Amino acid sequence: MVNKEQIQEKLTQVIYPGFKKNIVDFGFIQEITVQNSVVSILLDIPSAAPEIETQLREEISKRLSFLGDIRIELSITKPKMPRETSSNGKNVLPNIQNFVMVSSGKGGVGKSTTTVNLAIALAQQGKRVGLLDADIYGPNIPRMMGIEGEQPVFLGKTIKPILAHNVKVMSIGSLVERGASLIWKGAMVTQAIEQMLEDIKWGSLDVLLFDMPPGTGDAQLALAQSLPVTSGVCVTTPQKVALDDTIRSMDMFTQLHIPIAGIVENMSGFICPDSGKEYDIFGKGTTQPLADAYQTEVLGEVPIEPAIREGGDSGLPIMVLAPKCETSKRYQDMANKLWKKLLEVNEEGGVNNETIQPTIF
Ligand SMILES: Nc1ncnc2c1ncn2[C@@H]1O[C@H](COP(=O)(O)OP(=O)(O)OP(=O)(O)O)[C@@H](O)[C@H]1O
Ligand SMILES: [Mg+2]
Repeated sequence: MVNKEQIQEKLTQVIYPGFKKNIVDFGFIQEITVQNSVVSILLDIPSAAPEIETQLREEISKRLSFLGDIRIELSITKPKMPRETSSNGKNVLPNIQNFVMVSSGKGGVGKSTTTVNLAIALAQQGKRVGLLDADIYGPNIPRMMGIEGEQPVFLGKTIKPILAHNVKVMSIGSLVERGASLIWKGAMVTQAIEQMLEDIKWGSLDVLLFDMPPGTGDAQLALAQSLPVTSGVCVTTPQKVALDDTIRSMDMFTQLHIPIAGIVENMSGFICPDSGKEYDIFGKGTTQPLADAYQTEVLGEVPIEPAIREGGDSGLPIMVLAPKCETSKRYQDMANKLWKKLLEVNEEGGVNNETIQPTIF
């Protein structure tokens, strides 16, 4: 019968991939046991890369082939793969815990309305929230948050966001000369966004929400590459033509390594205030199959409601105007789901070790 020392001796011939030292000298062998014609080996390696594990398994199997019929159980413990983030670790705003990008493939579907109400819902739950209007072409957030015309305060080179409904708000569009952004091309958009991100004095925040311009263009890319975007929310309306654009938006999140929190189905049905009867103007419930296809969820359905539009126009969003109404409850519910997703993404990005099931050869 073979003994522990013989196994260890053979393992000194296994060189750790990429190095000149063997796995025994590195101290990677945690345990070798020989019992009832089974040899068990526990290896703890510092690399999460799958190819390292594969190479080690092949090499060890080769070196121990002299054992013949004796069974070998090899378990390898290694760190979890670091989560691939949109910006590969680059973060120009380290005091902010989470970044949420609210996007849509199509314009006018209610991105800004959703972002504003989600931001207020999160702030009402006691979170420290920021809201950046990254729609340089058509900034609507100042009006929706009731701060239109208010000038941000400059502190030397930095700019202080404006507090509205307990949310720190800044609009990139309102900082550039009216009309100037309309002729901006890709590189200018990227530069403006990066510059603005660094110049705004947010302080520390639990979450910063970005209201994006419609589509999948330079602004989305610039943002994703400057910050590790924690999660993406996609806003759509239920008609088929809008869903086609939503697919593009979801693909963009995937390509940029942005975990998708879910889809908001906005303008989903209309409840007639006179009769209480429900009409499906743009349809209803059409986003669920899309959410399934991207392994995400429908965060909520928001009906067409005059109070939502009025809230946006008057600077008193429905979450402020009528925090207890059915629609506001839905926004609260969406905020809860979004927060849960942020916690999940942060959790998964941890460095807990995972143990790989033993291969038996
Ligand atoms: N559920 C709703 N019920 C009634 N009106 C709504 C609803 N959602 C949005 N609106 C209104 O529709 C208009 C467009 O919404 P919003 O500006 O939020 O869309 P957007 O996707 O941000 O547009 P853009 O692509 O131009 O940025 C606004 O006047 C808003 O008040
Ligand atoms: Mg908008």
